[in-house]
Amino acid sequence: TWTMVNIVEEQVEKIREQIGERGQAICGLSGGVDSAVAAAIVQRAIGDRLTCVYVDHGLMRKGETEQIERDFVASTGADLRVVDAEKQFLDALAGVSDPEEKRKIIGREFIRTFEAAEAEILGDSIAEEGEKVAFLVQGTLYPDVVESGGGAGTSNIKSHHNVGGLPDDLQFELVEPLRTLFKDEVRLVGEQLGLPAEIVWRHPFPGPGLGIRIIGEVTRERLDILREADAIAREELTHAGLDRDIWQFPVVLLADVRSVGVQGDGRTYGHPVVLRPVTSEDAMTADWARLPYDVLERISTRITNEVAEVNRVAVDITSKPPGTIEWE
Ligand code: XMP
Repeated sequence: TWTMVNIVEEQVEKIREQIGERGQAICGLSGGVDSAVAAAIVQRAIGDRLTCVYVDHGLMRKGETEQIERDFVASTGADLRVVDAEKQFLDALAGVSDPEEKRKIIGREFIRTFEAAEAEILGDSIAEEGEKVAFLVQGTLYPDVVESGGGAGTSNIKSHHNVGGLPDDLQFELVEPLRTLFKDEVRLVGEQLGLPAEIVWRHPFPGPGLGIRIIGEVTRERLDILREADAIAREELTHAGLDRDIWQFPVVLLADVRSVGVQGDGRTYGHPVVLRPVTSEDAMTADWARLPYDVLERISTRITNEVAEVNRVAVDITSKPPGTIEWE
């Protein structure tokens, strides 16, 4: 619609004014809609003076990294650096089952990896052009601004963090093109910018990714099992045309639990997965989603047929409260 065109043009103009010819911008992509739309707008404004950074921590769902690497880049022309940090994250997570411990480790490794990439990118550009201002693009939405009580001027943070290998007087400035928008507007802007539907309409997904959907230790093998089961559940939800009725649809692998089953002539001893479809307005409260039985049946049949290690599929019928949306 014309209003979305206006929003894009207005933001592009604003960003050109803010950044001018002053330096280089960096945007961390999470795989979600906010950072992707923010990056796409800034890319329109300043072209390849924006570098996008995507940290592949190995905890993403099936196909998500490819969506960023291939489809996001194809639709925006953005300059993207993918950091393959899977081994680093999995090594750091080895032997860890406690949910908060997992979150701490993933958060710490993420900042480390992102800052190293940032230092490399800015280090190059400072060496070449003597730039002393760096812009950090963030997908902050209007509700985030209101919640944190932030007004004009709070977006200007000086020396936002110590990034090893950069000059002390380097200044960081935030660029937040979505500061006046609500989520549904961001999605419309994303469509306007031609971003892939999988990114624009993606359900919220936690930063620690599948790391907090494996109950027990996180290993590559367990991640692969969960990725297959999760992909089937999402695919069937999409086929049923129910994506937009559901807030989130976690699939959880009970990796430390084994259950007896029977398949063909043999007894199996596999793992259960739990389907956790919920409806919600804001994730503060949630209701378990009454998915049609035939959709649940297709998901169950396909997962137990196609994922050898899974021999049982359960549905979580707990609301929030008392349950949370995620299991960890
Ligand atoms: P819960 O499980 O607390 O989740 O009902 C509420 C919302 O927050 C998401 N979530 C997270 N997001 N890092 C994130 O970025 C986290 O550690 C995290 N834990 C939960 C969850 O997916 C839901 O949307």
